[in-house]
Parts: sequence; structure tokens; C-alpha cells
Amino acid sequence: MKRIKTKIEKFQHFYPYTVALVGAQSENQINFMACAWHTSLSFDPPLFGVLVSKKRFTHQVISKAREFTVNFISADRVKLSAQLGRKSGFDMDKVKEFQVKLSTSKIIQSPVIEEAYVSFECKVADIRPYGDHDLFVGEVLAIHEEEKSFDPEGVLNTGKIHPLLYLGSDFYITINPDSLKHVLPD
Ligand SMILES: Cc1cc2nc3c(=O)[nH]c(=O)nc-3n(C[C@H](O)[C@H](O)[C@H](O)COP(=O)(O)O)c2cc1C
Repeated sequence: MKRIKTKIEKFQHFYPYTVALVGAQSENQINFMACAWHTSLSFDPPLFGVLVSKKRFTHQVISKAREFTVNFISADRVKLSAQLGRKSGFDMDKVKEFQVKLSTSKIIQSPVIEEAYVSFECKVADIRPYGDHDLFVGEVLAIHEEEKSFDPEGVLNTGKIHPLLYLGSDFYITINPDSLKHVLPD
């Protein structure tokens, strides 16, 4: 039996999503938040979108900086997602409070998160409102990838990295590398 709902409240049935830590630096303010709503948009040029509510401090910082970084962490760093995703830069300096280690970007001013297994440096190419979130479209200018995290084709090495996935409502999970299959059509 399927339940059909027409009053849609917690719209998270399509999860799990990989958790990205998204943030930027504007003048001397550096702030990151957890972000589940993100997507690649184009290979050429490489465009990556993040959906950020207008209520977030990160929204202000990225809007001013006109750039941002997207950082993916492994499941053992789940606490950092909860810290950056349940506390706000309006109330505290999260980087200082949670001792987030940062690295200098190659092209933009905003830093990447050191412990991420992969980070993107993005320059804002477009901002579009969709309901209560704004889509920040970034042109990816540089990718920082931890050695051995990806094969030469850019496929995640699941023997090494267990990406952090979000199920919604503060539940997290990761992948089972034993379920890996390489499948081609007959
Ligand atoms: C795992 C996770 C994923 C989240 N995904 C998003 C998202 O995609 N977009 C968004 O606007 N907020 C998202 N949030 C909420 C923000 O991360 C949260 O409100 C954060 O405290 C905002 O911090 P800030 O005010 O410093 O920007 C998410 C929270 C968690 C825990």
C-alpha cells in the first residue's frame, strides 16, 4: 500500500545526499554551513550549484564574496557536519569554535576545508531564487582532491573514502563498499 500525501511538509524523501560543507570568506569573515542540496549543472563550462536559504549567514557571506568553496568530507567527520549545519555564523565564529582547519585556495580568496577529501573553488556565475532557497551557481575554477581518493577517471575510491551521506532530520549514513558493481548494458 502506498500513502499519497498532498500536504507536503518534510520534503526530504529523495535523500540520501552527500553532505557538502559550503562557505566563503568576505573581508575577514569566514563561514561554512552543511549543504545537502547541491548539484552539478554543466561539464563545459564546469558549473556547480548550491541551494542556500536566504536565512543562512552563509547566504550573506557568499553574496558579498561572489565566490565559495564546496568541500566533501568522509563519514568519520560527521560531527563537523552537525556543528556547521546546526549552528549559525550569526551567533558564533564556527571556524574558531569548532577548530575547522582551512587551506588556501589556488585561485579564489575563500579557503577550502583541509580535511575534505575533495574541494571545489567556485566563482559565482549566477544567483537565482527558487522559493525559500537561492541557487548559487559557481563556475568551478579548481579542484583539490586528496591523493588516492579517486581513480584516473575521477571515480571515488570507495576502498579508501566512505563519503558522508545525509538522510534528513539529523540522520547520517555512509556507503557499503561491498555493494560496488561496474555495470554495462548487454
Ligand atoms: C546535513 C545538513 C544539510 C543541510 N543542507 C542545507 C542546504 O542544502 N541548504 C540550506 O540552506 N541549509 C542546509 N542546512 C542547514 C544549514 O546548514 C544550517 O541552517 C546552518 O546552521 C546555517 O549556518 P549559517 O547561518 O552559519 O550559514 C543543512 C543542515 C544539515 C545538518
